[in-house]
Amino acid sequence: MQAHAVSAVTVRAAASVRGRLRVPGDKSISHRYAILAALADGPSRIAAYSPGADCASTVRCLRSLGVAIHEAETPADGMTGSAISTLRIEGRGPDGLVEPGVDLDAGNSGTTLRLMAGVLAARPFTARLVGDASLSRRPMRRVIDPLRMMGADIRAADGDRPPLTIGGAALSGVDYSPPVASAQVKSAILLAGLQAHGRTIVRERAPTRDHTERAFRAFGVGLDLGESAVAIDGGQRPVGTNLRVPGDLSSAAFWIVAAAALSGSDVEIVEVGLNPTRTALLDLLAEAGGHVEHEVTDTDAGEPRGTVRVRPAPLRSLTIAPAAVPGLIDELPVLAVLGTRATQVTVCGAAELRAKESDRISALVAGLRTLGADIEEFPDGFRVRPTPSLRGGQVDAAGDHRLAMSFAIAGLWARGPVTIVGAEVVEVSYPGFFQQLGALCGAGALPA
Ligand code: S3P
Repeated sequence: MQAHAVSAVTVRAAASVRGRLRVPGDKSISHRYAILAALADGPSRIAAYSPGADCASTVRCLRSLGVAIHEAETPADGMTGSAISTLRIEGRGPDGLVEPGVDLDAGNSGTTLRLMAGVLAARPFTARLVGDASLSRRPMRRVIDPLRMMGADIRAADGDRPPLTIGGAALSGVDYSPPVASAQVKSAILLAGLQAHGRTIVRERAPTRDHTERAFRAFGVGLDLGESAVAIDGGQRPVGTNLRVPGDLSSAAFWIVAAAALSGSDVEIVEVGLNPTRTALLDLLAEAGGHVEHEVTDTDAGEPRGTVRVRPAPLRSLTIAPAAVPGLIDELPVLAVLGTRATQVTVCGAAELRAKESDRISALVAGLRTLGADIEEFPDGFRVRPTPSLRGGQVDAAGDHRLAMSFAIAGLWARGPVTIVGAEVVEVSYPGFFQQLGALCGAGALPA
C-alpha cells in the first residue's frame, strides 16, 4: 500500500488477511450516548467513543449548545490502529441546552443532523443545522414531516434539504409510521417524544437498528416495546451514567468480507457489537456456507459485544430481498465487492442507497466497473457476478467512506493495483483503516 498524494491510497493484492483486532467504537451507538448524556442530569463517561469525524460532529454540535465535553485519549494501540477516546460529558438536563451563537455543523453526518433535529425541535430557541456538500443533498422531509406533526417549527430551504432552521416549540406526542425504514427517523421522533407532552409511538414497517431504545433504557428512560412499535412518554429525565461503546460491526464488515473471500485468511475481531439488529451480515454469510463464528462475551448498557471469527469457505449465491435491506444497509457496498470474487450477489429493494453519503448504487457500480467487475445496475440495487480476476485501476471514493473502504477490499484480489482517490474520507468512520489493512495483510507497516 502506498499513499500518493494527500488523498490517494493504492492497495495491492494480498495472499490472505490474518490477525486479531479491535475496530473503532460503533458510530451509531456513539452518537446516541453523547446526545443522551448531554440531555441527562449529571455527568456521564463514555469509553471507546467512535474516533471518526461523524461522531466528532455530534460532539461539536453539543458543545455549541453549551455542553461541556472533555476528551481523554488513550494512546493508539496495535489492535485498533487508532486512539481510543473516552468522553466525559457534563449533562445539562433535558432543558439545559442554550441557544447556539453559530450554525450547528453536522459535517458529513446524517445521523447527527437528523437526531439533533429531534432534540432541537422542543428547545425554546432557534438553531440552524448545516452540513457539508454531501449532507446538503440528503433528504430531510422524512424527519421534518413527523416533527411538524408534533408541533415543531422546522424549515428547510427547499422543503427537504439542509440547512434546517428549527424554531423551537412545545411538542405533543404523535403516533407515526415512517414511510421509510430508518433508524435515524425513528430516533429523531423518539428524542422529540422524550421532550413532548404525552405519549409518542413510532410504528416501523421493517425493523431497524434499536440502539436508541437500548440507550434510553441505559439512561433510565422507560419505553414500551411492541412487536414493531416503540412508545415513549414525554417528560422523563435521563440520568447520567458510565458506558462503553462496542466496536462497530459495520466497520468489521470489511475484514469479514476479506477473510471470507481470500484463501488462507483467518481474522478474529474482538469486543465488537453484536446487537441482533446489526448482525444480518454474519447470518447471511453463515447461511450461504461461510465459515463465520460469533460469540457474545459481554453486555454493556443493553448492547451485546463479543468475538467474530471468519475464515474462507465456498459460498452459495446471495440474494438480498427488500425485507433484508434495512438490516444490511451499511454492508451492501462491501457485499458487492464480495460478489466480484466469491459468489454472485443480488440486491434489490435498496433504493435508499441512493440517498446515502453518495448515490451508493451509481458510484459503486461505476467504481467496480472501472476495476473490471461484472456488475449490473438496477434502480433499486445491483447484481455482481464473480470475475476470474479484477484488473485494478483508479477509482473515486465519491466522498463516501464506505465506498473508499469497499474499493480497498477489492484491491486485495485485483490483478493490478487499485488506487482510491479521495481515500481520506475513511476518517468519517474509521481512522486507522489503512494501517489495519496493512497489518492484516502481513505488511505490518503503515501506508507510505
Ligand atoms: C444509522 C442508520 C442508518 C445507517 C446509518 C446510521 C443510525 O441510516 O445507514 O449509517 O445511526 O441510525 P438510515 O436511518 O437513514 O437508514
